Amino acid sequence: MKTEPIILAIESSCDETAAAIMKGDTVLSNIVNTQKVHEQYGGVVPELASRAHMQQILPVVDTALKTAGISKLEIDAVAFSQCPGLIGALLVGAGFAKSFAQALGKPIIAVQHIKAHVLAHFIDDPKPEFPFLCLTVSGGHTQLVICHSHLEHEIIGTTIDDAAGEAFDKVSKMLGLPYPGGPVLDKLAQSGNPKAFEFPIPNMEGYNYSFSGIKTAVLYAMQKKVKEQPNFIEENINDICASVQYTIVQTLLKKIIKAAKDYKIKHVGIAGGVSANSGLRKAIQEMGDKYGWQVYIPKFEYCTDNAAMIGIAAYYQYLEKDFADLSIIPSARSTY
Ligand code: KG4
Ligand code: ZN
Repeated sequence: MKTEPIILAIESSCDETAAAIMKGDTVLSNIVNTQKVHEQYGGVVPELASRAHMQQILPVVDTALKTAGISKLEIDAVAFSQCPGLIGALLVGAGFAKSFAQALGKPIIAVQHIKAHVLAHFIDDPKPEFPFLCLTVSGGHTQLVICHSHLEHEIIGTTIDDAAGEAFDKVSKMLGLPYPGGPVLDKLAQSGNPKAFEFPIPNMEGYNYSFSGIKTAVLYAMQKKVKEQPNFIEENINDICASVQYTIVQTLLKKIIKAAKDYKIKHVGIAGGVSANSGLRKAIQEMGDKYGWQVYIPKFEYCTDNAAMIGIAAYYQYLEKDFADLSIIPSARSTY
């Protein structure tokens, strides 16, 4: 009987130090340590992120092994996020993975972080069928991807400026909300009126996105209101958040609908940190019901950065014997 490979997967691209143990495509453990040090700065400070990864990587890997009940000698391969991300942060995970694998005499697997967000859909059942259209929306990326197979992904649309998560974060900051802005804005939006304020939905060519306009539109609208009523933002925060969220979600949906129609795809999903957004989750389900799609919405723990998604991507790469050489180095930019 063929035994399933045991893979240790490491994620360290931004401000989450994470490790997971996979047995085949099954997650045995998935440990995430979110760095708190950045909260006081209102955003991730790269150098502090690298240092926190250095401190956390050993205890996080140790906890992942213990939770899974796996000895390090049972590991068949070590996977890590190779790109994109903060270079110093990626270096910690890559350096750890290489030395750990070398000490065990096992291969390493270099995983593309954005691709891993998409592949998180293949952890649980029901798994998407191909072709699978996935919108990946994170703090740094907004991509519309058609998966023809587990590892063959075609990017059909991308943002030409800010990412959707960046738009959530920047607008939140402007409104004086604490970091990280996306989830805070989402919570406030839940008791607001999404039609209270109207912000423009950009009309980009093809399947591309643009999110830099929304923050300027909100800024100008708020400046005008505050002039007339100094406490305007505080008094209308729920309606403002709901309207901003509505605009971002509608912008995202427009291109998914167009792509699903043009490519005649019926299996549609969302991935990445912004897929945790309640407005987006509800809206994509409604679109699925309207257009007859099978909709895939990740569990919350697989939306934001985690190592199980690196592990599932590594599993499919392992099956293809897609191992990296020890000379491989991380890259801040995406090679998707
Ligand atoms: O995928 P992720 O954890 O990290 C990157 O690879 O960038 O995504 C982080 C992004 C941040 O911009 C964060 O504000 C956003 O995801 N985010 C949300 C929500 N939860 C996380 N945005 C809107 N609503 C949420 N509930
Ligand atoms: Zn991510």
